[in-house]
Amino acid sequence: MTATIDIIAGARPNFMKIAPIIRAMEARMAAGAPLAYRLVHTGQHYDSKMSGDFFTQLGIPEPHRNLEVGSGTQAEQTGSIMTRYEALLLESRSALCLVVGDVTSTMACAIAAQKLCVPVAHVEAGIRSGDWTMPEEINRMVTDSITNLFFTTSEVANQNLRRSGVPEDRIHFVGNTMIDTLLANMDRLRPPRFWGELGLEAGEYFVTTLHRPANVDSAASFDRLLRAISDGVRGKKVVFPVHPRTAKTMREVGVVPPSFLLVDPQPYLEFNYLVRHAKAVITDSGGVTEETTVMGVPCMTLRTSTERPETVSLGTNELLGVDPASLAPALDRLFAGEWKRGQVPPLWDGKTSERIVAVLERVLPLASVTPR
Ligand code: UD1
Repeated sequence: MTATIDIIAGARPNFMKIAPIIRAMEARMAAGAPLAYRLVHTGQHYDSKMSGDFFTQLGIPEPHRNLEVGSGTQAEQTGSIMTRYEALLLESRSALCLVVGDVTSTMACAIAAQKLCVPVAHVEAGIRSGDWTMPEEINRMVTDSITNLFFTTSEVANQNLRRSGVPEDRIHFVGNTMIDTLLANMDRLRPPRFWGELGLEAGEYFVTTLHRPANVDSAASFDRLLRAISDGVRGKKVVFPVHPRTAKTMREVGVVPPSFLLVDPQPYLEFNYLVRHAKAVITDSGGVTEETTVMGVPCMTLRTSTERPETVSLGTNELLGVDPASLAPALDRLFAGEWKRGQVPPLWDGKTSERIVAVLERVLPLASVTPR
């Protein structure tokens, strides 16, 4: 009997994680495997720049259902996603709900599914920052507390899950689907249209992304951060694709230092082209620290913790904290040519999605994995 798996995507960092899973699943379906999927977009991100462009560039098929939840507070978004996904499951039940990452949609769909006894698989399970002020950390903990099948990116994640009592046979260390997408698209990366107009040259500019509330929700501290970056980059340009949340604070800041080239959120291929050729990246994103690690680009993270410690212990990433004063000495080391070179973590090899689909095929029907 064919088992239909719901694949959930809601926000920008989900799209690059589901694309290769869908491709791997379609390959097995074409080979006759008894699998089917239903792609559910929650609508948490809805702009073409935050969502549609990623579907087009990464060849993700049109979602079977868009729940169209749109913007709101954490609780409003969680509630709407749960209500609308529950209605979909009641209308037509799936055999498994597969969620990825740590966004609000991940947690909300996992709860709605599990309450209807639809088992949950979580891709990127087990990672923890330990920082409960981040909504993503709450999403990770809640999701993993009701997950049946755990797909992990690192040995640290495996250990976190074991420590919380997850049985060994539920943990599948498969690697990183986001890196599947990066490696599959490395040859397709292309410069944004403004590359020539702005006179950008490889190795001669920085890329910055900032969107965490701790960095961007207060205009005064955001302003200090922008000045510290600008003061430290020694006249080089800083390309800054501005997240919608950051754009609101940017309008309050007034004068942005002239080193910054403010641009819209970039599509996948253009963004990673910019990263690949940057002198370094200054960010508060989690996913970007994984991509810089694989591309060997120096990365400075403006956070006090990370749920991806392998990007620091093995990769090119360093945690600087949220005090802008930490930037100057880090940039001095970069300009002195003293930044670490890093290596790629185990199993981040472009084949993670195939491993995930192989596990799914093996455990279907899912009677064997529920209840935990
Ligand atoms: C979400 C994720 C975060 C991820 C980030 C990447 C959660 C808890 N957080 O945060 O992990 O790193 O996405 O982008 O899920 N907005 C638009 N257009 C859109 C989407 C959002 O203008 O297409 C606006 C919203 O109205 C809101 C702001 O951007 O004002 C923030 O969006 P939201 O979905 O609440 O969370 P993010 O900060 O994007």
